[in-house]
Amino acid sequence: MSTLPEQDMPAAGLSGTTLGDHVHGQLLRLGAVVGLREADTALYGQILLDSLSDTARRPLSLPPASPSFLSDDHTPVEFSLACTANADPVLRVLVEPGCAHADMADSARAGLGVIRAMAGRWDFSTDQLDALEDLFFPTDAEGPLALWYALELRPGGVPGIKVYLNPSAAGPGQAARTVREALRRLGYGQGFGELPDGAGYPFVALDLGSWKKPRVKVYVSHPRMSADDACALSRTASGLSDADVKDFFHAAAGSVPPAGPDAWNVLRLLRRPALTCHAFSDRGVGPSGFTLHIPVRDYVRDDEEASARAKALLAQFGMDTSVLDRALCALTQRQLADGAGLIAYLALAYERNRQPRITAYLSSEAYAVRPPLTGPGVTRPEPSPQRHQALRPSR
Ligand code: TRP
Repeated sequence: MSTLPEQDMPAAGLSGTTLGDHVHGQLLRLGAVVGLREADTALYGQILLDSLSDTARRPLSLPPASPSFLSDDHTPVEFSLACTANADPVLRVLVEPGCAHADMADSARAGLGVIRAMAGRWDFSTDQLDALEDLFFPTDAEGPLALWYALELRPGGVPGIKVYLNPSAAGPGQAARTVREALRRLGYGQGFGELPDGAGYPFVALDLGSWKKPRVKVYVSHPRMSADDACALSRTASGLSDADVKDFFHAAAGSVPPAGPDAWNVLRLLRRPALTCHAFSDRGVGPSGFTLHIPVRDYVRDDEEASARAKALLAQFGMDTSVLDRALCALTQRQLADGAGLIAYLALAYERNRQPRITAYLSSEAYAVRPPLTGPGVTRPEPSPQRHQALRPSR
């Protein structure tokens, strides 16, 4: 891959390089890619470093401080690029601020401290989060996360803030009850009944700070999803057609063209499950947003394939594709064909009265690059008339 001029390249693995150096460098280069002003990017970079506290100074020659579930190689940071037609792409960064702590109660304390400091700095209320403390931060909290935050890195130095919480903090058996109660406390008493069935609720997320329409979001996981299933899971009126959702599913998952009229419908994602996300922002009218997340990294041979799929999707939805190439160059110097995982998820999002959005979740790979899936005959799965055909990585 070509490198960006005038910028330091990542030095993961070089002796002395710290986690902070690695993710900070990525953030500065990505900020330039999306056209943020240097002063804004510098501020966001400092916020990122501060929120990682001592972990930022931990050399990458040491293993990750905790087995963060945020990314496959346990880097507690992930970037994403949210693209809309006729608008500049938006850079976001997802962080586990309590990553120094393997214990979830300690991690929660660290995470809450970081959010409260942000609330002081940018003068926003944490009332919604405070109202949920007993649900999401029990004293004997279980993993795989306590609190993550994401910043939408906006021009002007005031980010949009999102907080991600674990509905299984009091045990997986409590997740449904926790989601229902959280929605009720936040004013969406009917919300739980409006969610589709799924195998679990990996996250609840809150928009904090300055948003036109702050949302409460519930993520649902769907093992063995097919394209037809994906269409049936949206609870948000209109916006995306079934054809949009199916096209996205197949383009992201890499399904082959149909051999017959129904052949598409039997392909299912048998590896890492797809997720849907249901956003609530208007009381009494059902979910206002729907997102389909496909974990593309588990359904490709390597990142060259993942990036080709992402760019085909961006082009299909009328969005700029070059920004993705530049973002990948900003993340790593490695060849795309040398790993599978730089693009963790591809997502199609629709919010009421907004243009559809395509988001690529981009891994930091501070600690490891997952090798490509190799082997003889790298081929796509053939559709067959059998029900429930596997959609496996193309190997
Ligand atoms: N790493 C986790 C996963 O793959 C959580 C996660 C990180 C995630 N970034 C995400 C989930 C983006 C959905 C979308 O599930």
